[in-house]
Amino acid sequence: MPASKITGVGMYVPEQVVTNDDLSKMMDTTNEWIIERTGIKERRFFKEGVDCVSKMAANACQIALDRAGKKAEDVDFIVFATLSSDYNFPGSGVLLQRKLPFRNIGALDLRAQCSGFIYALSVADQFIKSGMYKTILVVGSEVQSNVFEMSDRGRNLAVIFGDGAGAVLLEATDEPNKGILTTKLHSDGRFAEELYLQHPGSRKKVRFSPDMIENGDLLPYMNGKLVFMNALKYFPEVVREALDECKLKESDINLFIPHQANARITAAVQKEMNLPDDKIVSNIDRYGNTTAASIPIALCEAWQDGRIKEGDLVAMAAFGSGFMWASALIRW
Ligand code: UT7
Repeated sequence: MPASKITGVGMYVPEQVVTNDDLSKMMDTTNEWIIERTGIKERRFFKEGVDCVSKMAANACQIALDRAGKKAEDVDFIVFATLSSDYNFPGSGVLLQRKLPFRNIGALDLRAQCSGFIYALSVADQFIKSGMYKTILVVGSEVQSNVFEMSDRGRNLAVIFGDGAGAVLLEATDEPNKGILTTKLHSDGRFAEELYLQHPGSRKKVRFSPDMIENGDLLPYMNGKLVFMNALKYFPEVVREALDECKLKESDINLFIPHQANARITAAVQKEMNLPDDKIVSNIDRYGNTTAASIPIALCEAWQDGRIKEGDLVAMAAFGSGFMWASALIRW
């Protein structure tokens, strides 16, 4: 059975840097509060007409393809993770398909929020293992800066999230003990409403109305403390589950790439898993939480910085809305 190996990584973030001080001019917050509670110093916001989710994805994918020495024509399938699709429908996968010279390949949109990239990686891995496809682009791309209100009532979320995209090219390999060793996927839908955006959904006869805007019903809701507490539990648990399956230990991990949710979550998980600083990737200070894009952006930066060597064991984990959580173990 073939395995899937990452042969190219790419990322793209919008040009506009928004600092905590910029945000504090729009809402009742401070640079000190944001740094202390989240570790975030700045994030990127897209510019309408310049960037959008599918365009940022195309930029990241092109870089991943170039680094793998492949062309868009070589790709067999696209798995696109996002919670902020350009349109309500169709999904962003097809918008990406038309942006690069792909064949008329399948393009699957995947909704798993913060865990989206690992879920997408897992789906692509199964297609490769089954022999159905050999070359798959897996991408996470998000525009979130326009879903939050830049106001006092929107501040608890507005200061955390940012825009950006990351992508990997996955290719089939017959090399033994190489590539994706395992992925673990979980959910607990009892908590769906603890981090969600209700409208415009299909449950109501009228999908949106002016009073929804006024009441703030078109804004996402997050029970920050509950998400935080569960993240602390599930990040280590889901990595250990993957390690156990592969008969590996925490000390075997060469690099841990957690979903960039909050620097305090990363620090607590690092401590719980006994990992030294040089084994952790953290870039939340520069990009905030970019949801499905956060892991591939962090992976791309780590690779660019020469932090991943042939044979390294790379672990990834994510937790977020759903609740959904996931992990992946990769032998580079
Ligand atoms: O990717 C998965 C998605 N999300 C997450 O992983 C987020 C997980 N949760 C968190 O990261 C944290 O819960 C937050 C960063 C969202 C909040 O940190 P916290 O330490 O849990 O703060 P809090 O919500 O308990 O708020 C503390 C205080 C409150 O004031 P009072 O009631 O103590 O007077 C808030 O009103 O901070 C206030 N506050 C703010 N102050 C300045 C809330 N947001 C802000 C803000 N600026 N942006």
